[in-house]
Amino acid sequence: MYVILVANPKGGAGKTTIATNLAAYLAGKRQRVVIKDMDRQRSAARWLSRRPRGFPEVRGALPDTDPKVIADYTPQWLIVDAPAGLHDAPLAELVKQADAVLVPVAPSAFDFEATADFLTELTALKPVKDGKRAIAIIGSRVDQRTVAASNLDEFLEPLSLDVLTHIRDSQLYVHAARDGLSVFDQPRSRAEESWADWPPIFEWLQSMVAAKRAR
Ligand SMILES: Nc1ncnc2c1ncn2[C@@H]1O[C@H](COP(=O)(O)OP(=O)(O)OP(=O)(O)O)[C@@H](O)[C@H]1O
Ligand SMILES: [Mg+2]
Repeated sequence: MYVILVANPKGGAGKTTIATNLAAYLAGKRQRVVIKDMDRQRSAARWLSRRPRGFPEVRGALPDTDPKVIADYTPQWLIVDAPAGLHDAPLAELVKQADAVLVPVAPSAFDFEATADFLTELTALKPVKDGKRAIAIIGSRVDQRTVAASNLDEFLEPLSLDVLTHIRDSQLYVHAARDGLSVFDQPRSRAEESWADWPPIFEWLQSMVAAKRAR
């Protein structure tokens, strides 16, 4: 089982959107996927409860779900949707349990400040310092035509971290969230543009899984 923590303490960074879309994509590739909702708002769990029958199955877990129940399902992927405000010991614990950390960053000054502080905290954690956790950044809700998008690039450029992709700002994500779906559950004619933002994430995950296997 490969464990992906999606985290950024800044509210609204795009954590649940990335977690749910990634979960649905992997499920669509016939993988067994569990999404664990660590947020008291239960956005991911509620998304799952809205998910219509007939779409690739994603299982849900909550903080108090017995780990044995998860293990019995033998998932290939456990995606952990972190809450806003995650710092200190709870952050360290979730990082300890993860193989990889995906950090979505939305293009605004407030997000950059909060994310810079978070990355300082994250990269000071022992398993990260020791190179035992894969960390990557994902631009979130990006409109490439805007000044904010180039500000995002300027913010991300000096960080010595993998910046995988920019997920575009699209109402498709909003509508999919409402319906318990992902962009990968939408017809190609509507969603192809949005799909194009994701392959760098899938390729990075594949290489990280291969690196874990090789260890
Ligand atoms: N790529 C996108 N395009 C358009 N809207 C988006 C996109 N990503 C996220 N959103 C919207 O932005 C809002 C915040 O996103 P999301 O809930 O995923 O963030 P979050 O980091 O999980 O927030 P919280 O910290 O509250 O858990 C939601 O309304 C979501 O639908
Ligand atoms: Mg969320």
